[in-house]
Amino acid sequence: LWDSGAVRIRERAEADLGRCVELARVVHETDGYPVYLPDDLRSFLAVPHAIGAWVAERAGDVIGHVALHQRSSAAVMALAEAATGLPAPRLGVVARLLVAPTARRAGIGRALLDVAADRAVQLGRWPVLDVVTRHESGIKLYEAAGWSHAGQVTVTLGGVGPIEELVFLGPPPPQMQSPA
Ligand SMILES: CC(C)(COP(=O)(O)OP(=O)(O)OC[C@H]1O[C@@H](n2cnc3c(N)ncnc32)[C@H](O)[C@@H]1OP(=O)(O)O)[C@@H](O)C(=O)NCCC(=O)NCCS
Repeated sequence: LWDSGAVRIRERAEADLGRCVELARVVHETDGYPVYLPDDLRSFLAVPHAIGAWVAERAGDVIGHVALHQRSSAAVMALAEAATGLPAPRLGVVARLLVAPTARRAGIGRALLDVAADRAVQLGRWPVLDVVTRHESGIKLYEAAGWSHAGQVTVTLGGVGPIEELVFLGPPPPQMQSPA
């Protein structure tokens, strides 16, 4: 899917989940994402309604992860539906984006974002995502990648809240019209 020589992005396999859990633990300690560490990190990373999930691998190590989900929380979906003019089944939610602290600012986050968003577009879904307002590295990445702000919502994450989030829209898929 993406191969820079040293780093390769490929679909996540069941056998990767243990290493993805370790990655999520490190990123949580470093950046506070995910905001609350769930008891079951495997289920957090591999949600039943996922459309797809990918890993970035370097020298056999998993150094990045992203997923594409059918939905996010109700408030996020309502805002994304209003902003795109599309119903939830025509949206694809990019989620669970993490890059190892030792592998940052090398374009891996951007490449993972693009892989998930491209899959959404291939499936006729407009890519969207939600990000906690204090997760600045993510926000900077989405802005740099040309994603646009749809608005802000207040949500509960892992049963804890209120938490403020921004909702972003990916570049509109070519076949979809943006509402006037
Ligand atoms: C967000 C994250 C995935 C970015 O991964 P990354 O591999 O470092 O990102 P990239 O190298 O592809 O960055 C691409 C561009 O995004 C912007 N960007 C990314 N991280 C940034 C930061 N910390 N500060 C400012 N700009 C940043 C820059 O424009 C960057 O280009 P540049 O390096 O040429 O300036 C990573 O920082 C991370 O895992 N953060 C913690 C988890 C998290 O918050 N995930 C998002 C949850 S929704």
